[in-house]
Amino acid sequence: VDRKTYRIAAIPGDGIGNEVMTEGLKVMRAAAARFDIDLDFVSFDWANCDYFLKTGSMMPANWKDLLTGFDSIYFGAVGWPDKVPDHISLWGSLLKFRREFDQYINLRPVRLFEGVPCPLAHKKPGDIDFIVVRENTEGEYTSLGGKMFEDTDREFVIQESIFSRIGTDRVLKFAFELAQSRARRRLTVATKSNGIAISMPYWDERAHAMGERFPEVAVDLQHIDILAARFVLQPDRFDVVVASNLFGDILSDLGPACAGTIGLAPSANLNPERLFPSLFEPVHGSAPDISGRNIANPIAMIWSGALMLNFFGETAGHQRKNFREAHDAVLLAIEQVLRNGPRTPDLGGAASTSDMGDAIARLVSDGD
Ligand code: NAI
Ligand code: MG
Repeated sequence: VDRKTYRIAAIPGDGIGNEVMTEGLKVMRAAAARFDIDLDFVSFDWANCDYFLKTGSMMPANWKDLLTGFDSIYFGAVGWPDKVPDHISLWGSLLKFRREFDQYINLRPVRLFEGVPCPLAHKKPGDIDFIVVRENTEGEYTSLGGKMFEDTDREFVIQESIFSRIGTDRVLKFAFELAQSRARRRLTVATKSNGIAISMPYWDERAHAMGERFPEVAVDLQHIDILAARFVLQPDRFDVVVASNLFGDILSDLGPACAGTIGLAPSANLNPERLFPSLFEPVHGSAPDISGRNIANPIAMIWSGALMLNFFGETAGHQRKNFREAHDAVLLAIEQVLRNGPRTPDLGGAASTSDMGDAIARLVSDGD
Protein backbone atom coordinates (compact mmCIF):
# COMPACT_ATOMS: atom_id res chain seq x y z
CA VAL A 1 0.00 0.00 0.00
CA ASP A 2 1.39 3.40 -0.94
CA ARG A 3 1.42 5.82 1.94
CA LYS A 4 1.62 9.50 1.49
CA THR A 5 2.33 12.13 4.11
CA TYR A 6 0.13 15.13 3.45
CA ARG A 7 1.96 18.40 4.05
CA ILE A 8 -0.28 21.19 5.27
CA ALA A 9 0.62 24.86 5.73
CA ALA A 10 -1.23 26.09 8.83
CA ILE A 11 -1.74 29.86 8.65
CA PRO A 12 -3.78 31.17 11.58
CA GLY A 13 -3.84 34.86 10.52
CA ASP A 14 -5.43 37.37 12.90
CA GLY A 15 -7.75 37.48 15.89
CA ILE A 16 -9.87 34.39 16.49
CA GLY A 17 -8.09 32.78 13.54
CA ASN A 18 -5.46 31.83 16.13
CA GLU A 19 -7.96 30.49 18.63
CA VAL A 20 -9.93 28.35 16.19
CA MET A 21 -6.73 27.09 14.52
CA THR A 22 -5.64 25.50 17.81
CA GLU A 23 -8.88 23.52 17.95
CA GLY A 24 -8.80 22.66 14.25
CA LEU A 25 -5.32 21.17 14.61
CA LYS A 26 -6.39 19.27 17.71
CA VAL A 27 -9.25 17.61 15.87
CA MET A 28 -7.24 16.96 12.69
CA ARG A 29 -4.57 15.20 14.75
CA ALA A 30 -7.19 13.10 16.51
CA ALA A 31 -8.71 12.11 13.14
CA ALA A 32 -5.29 11.34 11.64
CA ALA A 33 -4.41 9.06 14.57
CA ARG A 34 -7.67 7.13 14.49
CA PHE A 35 -7.89 6.71 10.71
CA ASP A 36 -4.22 6.01 10.06
CA ILE A 37 -3.55 9.15 8.02
CA ASP A 38 -0.19 10.94 7.95
CA LEU A 39 -0.53 14.70 8.27
CA ASP A 40 2.44 17.01 8.64
CA PHE A 41 1.45 20.55 9.70
CA VAL A 42 3.89 23.46 9.33
CA SER A 43 2.77 26.76 10.90
CA PHE A 44 3.52 30.13 9.32
CA ASP A 45 3.50 33.37 11.24
CA TRP A 46 2.78 35.67 8.32
CA ALA A 47 -0.36 36.67 6.42
CA ASN A 48 -1.41 38.59 9.54
CA CYS A 49 -1.60 42.28 10.41
CA ASP A 50 1.23 42.25 12.99
CA TYR A 51 3.55 40.91 10.29
CA PHE A 52 2.44 43.83 8.11
CA LEU A 53 3.21 46.34 10.86
CA LYS A 54 6.69 44.82 11.28
CA THR A 55 7.61 44.41 7.60
CA GLY A 56 5.33 46.61 5.49
CA SER A 57 3.80 43.68 3.62
CA MET A 58 1.41 40.90 4.52
CA MET A 59 3.64 38.08 3.30
CA PRO A 60 7.31 37.49 2.50
CA ALA A 61 8.25 38.11 -1.14
CA ASN A 62 8.86 34.38 -1.73
CA TRP A 63 5.51 33.27 -0.24
CA LYS A 64 4.60 31.37 -3.38
CA ASP A 65 7.79 29.30 -3.29
CA LEU A 66 7.32 28.67 0.41
CA LEU A 67 3.81 27.28 -0.11
CA THR A 68 4.01 25.58 -3.49
CA GLY A 69 5.19 22.19 -2.20
CA PHE A 70 2.30 21.87 0.25
CA ASP A 71 -0.76 19.73 -0.38
CA SER A 72 -3.01 22.34 1.17
CA ILE A 73 -3.33 25.50 3.20
CA TYR A 74 -5.37 25.41 6.40
CA PHE A 75 -6.26 29.03 6.98
CA GLY A 76 -7.81 30.83 9.97
CA ALA A 77 -8.91 34.38 9.14
CA VAL A 78 -7.14 37.56 8.20
CA GLY A 79 -7.92 41.19 9.07
CA TRP A 80 -7.64 43.69 11.91
CA PRO A 81 -9.05 46.98 10.64
CA ASP A 82 -7.64 49.08 13.51
CA LYS A 83 -4.11 48.08 12.46
CA VAL A 84 -4.34 47.61 8.68
CA PRO A 85 -7.15 48.56 6.25
CA ASP A 86 -9.14 45.48 5.20
CA HIS A 87 -8.51 45.82 1.48
CA ILE A 88 -4.75 45.70 2.14
CA SER A 89 -4.82 42.72 4.48
CA LEU A 90 -7.23 40.71 2.31
CA TRP A 91 -5.72 41.51 -1.10
CA GLY A 92 -2.21 41.05 0.31
CA SER A 93 -2.88 37.48 1.45
CA LEU A 94 -6.03 35.42 0.96
CA LEU A 95 -6.95 36.81 -2.45
CA LYS A 96 -3.42 36.15 -3.71
CA PHE A 97 -3.74 32.52 -2.68
CA ARG A 98 -7.06 32.13 -4.49
CA ARG A 99 -5.82 33.69 -7.71
CA GLU A 100 -2.24 32.57 -7.98
CA PHE A 101 -3.07 29.01 -6.95
CA ASP A 102 -5.99 28.93 -9.44
CA GLN A 103 -8.48 27.85 -6.78
CA TYR A 104 -11.36 28.09 -9.20
CA ILE A 105 -13.91 26.23 -7.08
CA ASN A 106 -15.33 27.79 -3.96
CA LEU A 107 -17.29 25.16 -2.10
CA ARG A 108 -19.66 25.89 0.75
CA PRO A 109 -21.73 23.15 2.36
CA VAL A 110 -24.92 24.25 4.10
CA ARG A 111 -26.59 22.08 6.73
CA LEU A 112 -29.10 22.59 9.47
CA PHE A 113 -28.03 20.73 12.61
CA GLU A 114 -30.06 19.55 15.54
CA GLY A 115 -29.50 21.92 18.46
CA VAL A 116 -28.97 25.00 16.28
CA PRO A 117 -31.90 27.42 16.11
CA CYS A 118 -32.96 27.95 12.48
CA PRO A 119 -33.93 31.45 11.35
CA LEU A 120 -36.44 29.89 8.91
CA ALA A 121 -39.74 28.84 10.47
CA HIS A 122 -40.73 25.16 10.68
CA LYS A 123 -37.46 23.76 9.34
CA LYS A 124 -35.92 20.73 10.97
CA PRO A 125 -32.52 19.04 10.60
CA GLY A 126 -32.49 17.18 7.28
CA ASP A 127 -34.56 19.86 5.54
CA ILE A 128 -31.44 21.89 4.75
CA ASP A 129 -28.49 19.96 3.36
CA PHE A 130 -26.93 21.30 0.19
CA ILE A 131 -23.67 22.57 -1.28
CA VAL A 132 -23.03 25.81 -3.13
CA VAL A 133 -20.34 25.61 -5.84
CA ARG A 134 -19.14 29.08 -6.77
CA GLU A 135 -16.86 29.95 -9.69
CA ASN A 136 -13.94 31.68 -8.01
CA THR A 137 -11.70 33.22 -10.72
CA GLU A 138 -13.63 35.02 -13.48
CA GLY A 139 -17.25 35.91 -14.34
CA GLU A 140 -18.43 39.26 -13.04
CA TYR A 141 -15.29 39.90 -10.98
CA THR A 142 -12.70 41.25 -13.40
CA SER A 143 -10.51 44.31 -13.58
CA LEU A 144 -11.49 44.96 -17.20
CA GLY A 145 -13.22 48.21 -17.95
CA GLY A 146 -12.71 51.85 -17.27
CA LYS A 147 -14.02 55.30 -16.72
CA MET A 148 -14.25 58.11 -19.26
CA PHE A 149 -15.31 61.74 -19.44
CA GLU A 150 -14.87 62.01 -15.70
CA ASP A 151 -16.61 64.94 -14.03
CA THR A 152 -18.51 65.87 -17.17
CA ASP A 153 -22.11 65.08 -17.89
CA ARG A 154 -20.90 62.40 -20.30
CA GLU A 155 -19.13 60.54 -17.46
CA PHE A 156 -19.51 56.75 -17.70
CA VAL A 157 -17.99 53.54 -16.39
CA ILE A 158 -17.75 50.09 -17.94
CA GLN A 159 -17.02 46.87 -16.07
CA GLU A 160 -16.72 43.75 -18.19
CA SER A 161 -17.69 40.18 -17.27
CA ILE A 162 -15.76 37.22 -18.56
CA PHE A 163 -17.15 33.76 -19.20
CA SER A 164 -14.47 31.71 -20.90
CA ARG A 165 -15.28 28.27 -22.22
CA ILE A 166 -12.54 26.74 -20.07
CA GLY A 167 -13.64 28.63 -16.98
CA THR A 168 -17.32 27.86 -17.47
CA ASP A 169 -16.91 24.21 -18.36
CA ARG A 170 -14.55 23.39 -15.51
CA VAL A 171 -16.85 24.70 -12.79
CA LEU A 172 -19.89 23.02 -14.38
CA LYS A 173 -18.01 19.73 -14.69
CA PHE A 174 -16.99 19.87 -11.04
CA ALA A 175 -20.60 20.54 -10.00
CA PHE A 176 -22.01 17.72 -12.14
CA GLU A 177 -19.46 15.28 -10.75
CA LEU A 178 -20.30 16.35 -7.22
CA ALA A 179 -24.04 15.97 -7.86
CA GLN A 180 -23.42 12.55 -9.42
CA SER A 181 -21.61 11.42 -6.27
CA ARG A 182 -24.45 12.36 -3.93
CA ALA A 183 -27.58 10.36 -3.12
CA ARG A 184 -30.09 12.83 -4.58
CA ARG A 185 -28.16 13.60 -7.77
CA ARG A 186 -29.76 16.99 -8.28
CA LEU A 187 -28.01 20.00 -9.72
CA THR A 188 -29.47 23.49 -9.71
CA VAL A 189 -27.79 25.88 -12.13
CA ALA A 190 -28.13 29.55 -11.16
CA THR A 191 -28.73 31.71 -14.21
CA LYS A 192 -30.22 35.01 -15.35
CA SER A 193 -30.52 34.41 -19.07
CA ASN A 194 -33.75 36.39 -19.24
CA GLY A 195 -31.98 39.60 -18.27
CA ILE A 196 -28.27 39.19 -19.01
CA ALA A 197 -28.71 38.34 -22.64
CA ILE A 198 -25.24 37.29 -23.81
CA SER A 199 -23.17 35.70 -21.06
CA MET A 200 -25.99 33.92 -19.25
CA PRO A 201 -27.47 32.20 -22.34
CA TYR A 202 -23.90 31.03 -22.98
CA TRP A 203 -23.66 29.72 -19.41
CA ASP A 204 -26.98 27.87 -19.91
CA GLU A 205 -25.80 26.42 -23.22
CA ARG A 206 -22.61 25.10 -21.63
CA ALA A 207 -24.65 23.67 -18.74
CA HIS A 208 -26.91 21.78 -21.17
CA ALA A 209 -23.89 20.48 -23.08
CA MET A 210 -22.21 19.31 -19.86
CA GLY A 211 -25.48 17.75 -18.71
CA GLU A 212 -25.42 15.34 -21.67
CA ARG A 213 -22.32 13.77 -20.15
CA PHE A 214 -24.17 13.21 -16.85
CA PRO A 215 -27.51 11.60 -17.73
CA GLU A 216 -28.09 10.46 -14.13
CA VAL A 217 -28.06 13.98 -12.75
CA ALA A 218 -31.39 15.85 -12.69
CA VAL A 219 -30.63 19.41 -13.82
CA ASP A 220 -32.70 22.41 -12.99
CA LEU A 221 -31.88 25.90 -14.32
CA GLN A 222 -33.30 28.68 -12.17
CA HIS A 223 -33.05 32.42 -12.44
CA ILE A 224 -31.07 33.87 -9.59
CA ASP A 225 -33.91 35.99 -8.21
CA ILE A 226 -36.38 33.16 -7.67
CA LEU A 227 -33.53 30.86 -6.67
CA ALA A 228 -32.62 33.22 -3.82
CA ALA A 229 -36.25 33.30 -2.72
CA ARG A 230 -36.37 29.49 -2.71
CA PHE A 231 -33.29 29.24 -0.48
CA VAL A 232 -35.50 30.85 2.15
CA LEU A 233 -38.88 29.32 1.28
CA GLN A 234 -37.99 25.80 0.08
CA PRO A 235 -34.38 25.01 1.05
CA ASP A 236 -35.20 21.29 0.94
CA ARG A 237 -35.31 21.39 -2.90
CA PHE A 238 -31.57 21.89 -3.16
CA ASP A 239 -28.74 19.38 -3.35
CA VAL A 240 -25.86 20.92 -5.37
CA VAL A 241 -26.13 24.50 -6.62
CA VAL A 242 -23.63 25.89 -9.14
CA ALA A 243 -23.25 29.59 -9.81
CA SER A 244 -21.06 32.24 -11.40
CA ASN A 245 -18.70 34.27 -9.24
CA LEU A 246 -21.17 37.05 -8.32
CA PHE A 247 -24.26 34.88 -7.93
CA GLY A 248 -22.25 32.30 -6.03
CA ASP A 249 -20.86 34.96 -3.71
CA ILE A 250 -24.35 35.99 -2.72
CA LEU A 251 -25.78 32.47 -2.48
CA SER A 252 -22.85 31.23 -0.44
CA ASP A 253 -23.62 33.77 2.29
CA LEU A 254 -27.38 33.42 2.02
CA GLY A 255 -27.17 29.63 2.30
CA PRO A 256 -25.28 29.46 5.60
CA ALA A 257 -27.39 32.32 6.97
CA CYS A 258 -30.50 30.17 6.41
CA ALA A 259 -28.96 27.44 8.58
CA GLY A 260 -28.04 29.47 11.68
CA THR A 261 -24.82 30.92 13.05
CA ILE A 262 -21.84 32.09 11.02
CA GLY A 263 -19.56 30.25 13.45
CA LEU A 264 -20.48 26.96 11.72
CA ALA A 265 -19.96 27.73 8.02
CA PRO A 266 -16.89 26.10 6.41
CA SER A 267 -15.44 26.60 2.94
CA ALA A 268 -12.97 25.09 0.53
CA ASN A 269 -11.12 26.93 -2.24
CA LEU A 270 -10.10 24.16 -4.58
CA ASN A 271 -7.69 23.63 -7.39
CA PRO A 272 -9.21 20.24 -8.32
CA GLU A 273 -6.30 19.25 -10.59
CA ARG A 274 -3.98 19.63 -7.58
CA LEU A 275 -1.45 21.63 -9.57
CA PHE A 276 -1.45 24.04 -6.61
CA PRO A 277 -2.40 23.74 -2.95
CA SER A 278 -6.08 24.17 -2.16
CA LEU A 279 -7.19 26.28 0.78
CA PHE A 280 -9.62 25.40 3.56
CA GLU A 281 -10.99 28.11 5.84
CA PRO A 282 -14.00 29.13 7.89
CA VAL A 283 -16.37 31.60 6.20
CA HIS A 284 -16.19 33.96 9.18
CA GLY A 285 -13.48 36.57 9.73
CA SER A 286 -11.14 37.37 12.60
CA ALA A 287 -13.91 38.73 14.86
CA PRO A 288 -11.94 41.44 16.72
CA ASP A 289 -15.00 42.01 18.95
CA ILE A 290 -14.62 38.62 20.66
CA SER A 291 -10.95 37.91 20.03
CA GLY A 292 -8.66 36.88 22.90
CA ARG A 293 -11.49 35.67 25.14
CA ASN A 294 -11.56 31.99 24.22
CA ILE A 295 -15.27 32.15 23.30
CA ALA A 296 -15.17 31.83 19.50
CA ASN A 297 -17.03 28.89 18.02
CA PRO A 298 -14.38 26.58 16.49
CA ILE A 299 -16.77 24.44 14.40
CA ALA A 300 -16.38 26.28 11.08
CA MET A 301 -12.61 25.77 11.33
CA ILE A 302 -12.96 22.12 12.32
CA TRP A 303 -15.50 21.38 9.56
CA SER A 304 -13.18 23.09 7.04
CA GLY A 305 -10.50 20.62 8.15
CA ALA A 306 -12.90 17.75 7.50
CA LEU A 307 -13.44 19.07 3.96
CA MET A 308 -9.66 19.03 3.55
CA LEU A 309 -9.43 15.36 4.59
CA ASN A 310 -12.20 14.49 2.17
CA PHE A 311 -10.43 16.32 -0.65
CA PHE A 312 -7.22 14.41 0.05
CA GLY A 313 -9.16 11.17 -0.20
CA GLU A 314 -10.63 11.86 -3.62
CA THR A 315 -8.16 10.75 -6.21
CA ALA A 316 -8.96 10.21 -9.87
CA GLY A 317 -12.59 9.34 -9.36
CA HIS A 318 -12.23 6.93 -6.46
CA GLN A 319 -12.17 7.68 -2.78
CA ARG A 320 -9.65 6.43 -0.32
CA LYS A 321 -11.95 4.99 2.26
CA ASN A 322 -10.20 6.07 5.45
CA PHE A 323 -10.23 9.75 4.47
CA ARG A 324 -13.95 9.66 3.83
CA GLU A 325 -14.40 7.90 7.17
CA ALA A 326 -12.29 10.54 8.90
CA HIS A 327 -14.44 13.29 7.36
CA ASP A 328 -17.63 11.53 8.43
CA ALA A 329 -16.33 10.95 11.96
CA VAL A 330 -15.54 14.65 12.39
CA LEU A 331 -19.01 15.59 11.12
CA LEU A 332 -20.62 13.07 13.46
CA ALA A 333 -18.69 14.53 16.40
CA ILE A 334 -19.79 18.05 15.40
CA GLU A 335 -23.41 16.86 15.25
CA GLN A 336 -23.14 15.29 18.69
CA VAL A 337 -21.62 18.35 20.30
CA LEU A 338 -24.20 20.66 18.73
CA ARG A 339 -26.93 18.40 20.08
CA ASN A 340 -25.56 17.75 23.58
CA GLY A 341 -23.05 20.51 24.23
CA PRO A 342 -20.66 21.92 25.29
CA ARG A 343 -21.70 25.03 23.33
CA THR A 344 -20.02 28.42 22.91
CA PRO A 345 -21.96 31.64 23.68
CA ASP A 346 -23.00 32.25 20.02
CA LEU A 347 -25.03 29.02 20.36
CA GLY A 348 -26.48 30.06 23.71
CA GLY A 349 -23.98 28.12 25.85
CA ALA A 350 -21.24 29.12 28.28
CA ALA A 351 -18.42 26.85 27.10
CA SER A 352 -15.06 28.06 25.84
CA THR A 353 -13.51 27.55 22.42
CA SER A 354 -11.18 24.94 23.86
CA ASP A 355 -13.98 23.10 25.73
CA MET A 356 -15.79 22.65 22.45
CA GLY A 357 -12.64 21.65 20.56
CA ASP A 358 -11.69 19.16 23.28
CA ALA A 359 -15.15 17.60 23.21
CA ILE A 360 -15.08 17.17 19.42
CA ALA A 361 -11.53 15.80 19.46
CA ARG A 362 -12.48 13.29 22.17
CA LEU A 363 -15.49 12.05 20.20
CA VAL A 364 -13.35 11.72 17.06
CA SER A 365 -10.71 9.71 18.98
CA ASP A 366 -13.15 7.40 20.72
CA GLY A 367 -15.69 6.76 18.00
CA ASP A 368 -19.04 5.96 19.55
P1 NAI B 1 -16.43 38.45 11.29
O1 NAI B 1 -16.86 37.21 10.62
O2 NAI B 1 -15.05 38.48 11.82
O3 NAI B 1 -17.44 38.76 12.50
C1 NAI B 1 -18.83 39.05 12.30
C2 NAI B 1 -19.60 38.79 13.60
O4 NAI B 1 -19.72 37.37 13.79
C3 NAI B 1 -18.88 39.32 14.84
O5 NAI B 1 -19.83 39.81 15.76
C4 NAI B 1 -18.18 38.10 15.40
O6 NAI B 1 -17.98 38.14 16.78
C5 NAI B 1 -19.11 36.97 15.00
N1 NAI B 1 -18.35 35.72 14.75
C6 NAI B 1 -17.53 35.49 13.69
N2 NAI B 1 -16.96 34.28 13.79
C7 NAI B 1 -17.41 33.75 14.95
C8 NAI B 1 -17.16 32.52 15.62
N3 NAI B 1 -16.32 31.58 15.12
N4 NAI B 1 -17.78 32.30 16.80
C9 NAI B 1 -18.61 33.21 17.32
N5 NAI B 1 -18.89 34.39 16.72
C10 NAI B 1 -18.29 34.66 15.55
O7 NAI B 1 -16.66 39.64 10.24
P2 NAI B 1 -16.27 41.19 10.37
O8 NAI B 1 -16.48 41.65 11.77
O9 NAI B 1 -16.99 41.86 9.28
O10 NAI B 1 -14.74 41.26 10.00
C11 NAI B 1 -13.68 41.28 10.95
C12 NAI B 1 -12.37 41.14 10.22
O11 NAI B 1 -12.31 39.87 9.58
C13 NAI B 1 -12.17 42.18 9.14
O12 NAI B 1 -10.83 42.55 9.13
C14 NAI B 1 -12.53 41.44 7.86
O13 NAI B 1 -11.89 41.94 6.71
C15 NAI B 1 -12.02 40.07 8.19
N6 NAI B 1 -12.65 38.97 7.42
C16 NAI B 1 -11.82 38.00 6.95
C17 NAI B 1 -12.33 36.92 6.28
C18 NAI B 1 -11.39 35.86 5.87
O14 NAI B 1 -10.26 35.80 6.33
N7 NAI B 1 -11.81 34.97 4.98
C19 NAI B 1 -13.76 36.77 6.01
C20 NAI B 1 -14.56 37.83 6.59
C21 NAI B 1 -14.00 38.89 7.26
MG1 MG C 1 -18.94 37.06 0.33
